[in-house]
Amino acid sequence: MSKKTIVVVGASRGIGKATVELLAQQSEFSIYALSRDLAKMQTNFNALPNVYCYAFDLSQNVRQQAELIFSECTQIDYIINNAGKLVNKPFTEILHSDLIDCYQTNVIGVMETVQAVVPKMIQKGGHIVNISSIGGFQGSVKFGGLSAYSTSKAAVCSFTELFAEEYKESPIKINCLCLGAAQTEMLNEAFPGYEAPVSAEKMAEYIVNFTLTAHEWMNGKIIPVSLSTP
Ligand SMILES: NC(=O)c1ccc[n+]([C@@H]2O[C@H](COP(=O)([O-])OP(=O)(O)OC[C@H]3O[C@@H](n4cnc5c(N)ncnc54)[C@H](OP(=O)(O)O)[C@@H]3O)[C@@H](O)[C@H]2O)c1
Repeated sequence: MSKKTIVVVGASRGIGKATVELLAQQSEFSIYALSRDLAKMQTNFNALPNVYCYAFDLSQNVRQQAELIFSECTQIDYIINNAGKLVNKPFTEILHSDLIDCYQTNVIGVMETVQAVVPKMIQKGGHIVNISSIGGFQGSVKFGGLSAYSTSKAAVCSFTELFAEEYKESPIKINCLCLGAAQTEMLNEAFPGYEAPVSAEKMAEYIVNFTLTAHEWMNGKIIPVSLSTP
């Protein structure tokens, strides 16, 4: 049986790193680990023979970079769009560049990555999993200071529904996970001292299981993965 190819974007630390490490335990997977920090990934995943690391920057020429990285692949079976940019600032202090950075990384970068993936999934199918945030989920608890970040994550939810509609006759499935707080560098930097109820490794367990199985039951769905209420 041929190996399944899984792409994890944002793999150098946090939830993405834990996701790659978990997936790599299964030798039937070839894992493409993508982020800006190639050296860090190469160190992290040095002992994992089925992990292939690529420098990838969601802030520029995303579709071209992704097409180049995927050029050797005939088939991508799964992609987890996990990379994210968080800005935590009072609303009136948010700069134009903060908005551009958040939307470029969290929305435009994800959409252009998916554009590059579609030709690699359209024949045999695949599952695209977008990682959003509970703050971008309609009706959820909201956090002051996150209007740039959370609105961009809401856009990822909307993109998921729109892609699913446009590709509903195809074998490509797409879903979106709106994560609650997980203990990572991103969380520590944005909310120093805050203790999340879930570790990066625990969150990765859910994401891996969801990515490998959920498309058998759902498409275009936005799933809150959070212990918070509402
Ligand atoms: N942790 C939480 O509590 C929480 C809650 C809700 C949602 N989420 C979401 O879950 C995802 C993972 O979060 P995390 O906490 O693990 O974040 P993290 O620790 O900050 O890790 C983010 C990853 O994204 C990569 N990345 C950032 N900007 C990039 C860019 N321009 N191009 C390519 N890669 C880029 C980073 O790698 P490089 O710096 O090497 O590029 C890093 O590997 C994010 O989408 C985040 O919004 C997290």
